[in-house]
Amino acid sequence: MIIGTPLSDTATKVMLLGAGELGKEVIIAFQRLGIEVIAVDRYAKAPGHQVAHRSHVIDMTDRDALLALIKHEKPHFVVPEIEAIATDALAEAVEDGITEVIPTARATQLTMNREGIRRLAAEELGLPTSKYAFANNFEELTEAAKTVGFPCVIKPIMSSSGKGQSVVHDADGLEHAWDYALAGGRVNKQRVIIEGFVDFDYEITLLTVRSTHSGAITTSFCEPIGHKQERGDYIESWQPHPMSETALASARHIAEKVTAALGGRGVFGVELFVKGDDVYFSEVSPRPHDTGLVTLATQRYSEFELHARAVLRLPVDTSLREPGASAVIYGGVDSRSVRFSGIADALDVPGVDVRLFGKPESFEFRRMGVVVASAENIDVARERAREAAACVKPIAD
Ligand SMILES: Nc1ncnc2c1ncn2[C@@H]1O[C@H](COP(=O)(O)OP(=O)(O)O)[C@@H](O)[C@H]1O
Ligand SMILES: [Mg+2]
Repeated sequence: MIIGTPLSDTATKVMLLGAGELGKEVIIAFQRLGIEVIAVDRYAKAPGHQVAHRSHVIDMTDRDALLALIKHEKPHFVVPEIEAIATDALAEAVEDGITEVIPTARATQLTMNREGIRRLAAEELGLPTSKYAFANNFEELTEAAKTVGFPCVIKPIMSSSGKGQSVVHDADGLEHAWDYALAGGRVNKQRVIIEGFVDFDYEITLLTVRSTHSGAITTSFCEPIGHKQERGDYIESWQPHPMSETALASARHIAEKVTAALGGRGVFGVELFVKGDDVYFSEVSPRPHDTGLVTLATQRYSEFELHARAVLRLPVDTSLREPGASAVIYGGVDSRSVRFSGIADALDVPGVDVRLFGKPESFEFRRMGVVVASAENIDVARERAREAAACVKPIAD
């Protein structure tokens, strides 16, 4: 891989589609390697805009607008950070030989739709998942829920951050779940997945990296990340999550299979449910994962640096440096100029670091920052991260 000079004719150019907190860290990783970075988001002053060479504000679900921008900027690599993208524009840009999409245009297409990735994992690859069925209307939903059984989880096929998702315990709950899913779906498509509720002992993200070594793709795994979800988003994560040898081997097997089927290079966040020694595939992000923010404190290379290296066909090293944890800092208030106090107190907690994302607008439950902590074990790290996050307080205007 030859890397040129940013802002010159030889520049190696990367375009981030989505410039939130994860994109911002990916951009910083690229910047450190001398890459010219173009950050795109749907709103101005997004976190990643603030650290890129250039920024654009467009509706990335608008196929024509996205294709025009890619043609205008001609990046060597397009790196999606979010799901809600007109993926046919990506496929066309690749077909026209304008750019390369990370990991692949097909992977972004399959994973933005719960049906695409579920059918690939369960039906083509034969991987263990929860029971599932799909429904296009309330009658189909009633039938599907009978097949899948209660409790079940109902989700729009296109949504993220738990939007439109609910757990249903009996037939009486179906009507509300249907309405809720329709309101929460990303596109105006009346289709839901009904999944059997997996009564897991714990859930993990297995960060899986597909990278190039001497021309051939190799797959490497980070240590498993445990996490806690609330209101559809993660609030706390830690690494390494202890697992039995059997469960870890199954987890890696599943991750290897599903990422190989998606293809391309980069970091994948493989979400798995674990019960005893049994592991179930849930879903996968073909990009760094929010629960992986913990790797800023724990790994030799964070998931963001690993992603950048894999994109650039550079060697990766997924080794853990020390155990750690992350805890989310919420906006707490609705404000367009939020200020935070208590950062110094947070940083007084041993082993702690703080990231404030710089989002232009704060909401009560908007993720505005994160505390990452390292320690001799995950229990101490979680304690430190929680304690430090509690120190950071929004100042009401
Ligand atoms: N079938 C299921 N059984 C048990 N818990 C589930 C199931 N599906 C989702 N969950 C819980 O909800 C969270 C979010 O679901 P997920 O499918 O990952 O949606 P999203 O795409 O919004 O992240 C999961 O991390 C898990 O905690
Ligand atoms: Mg998820």
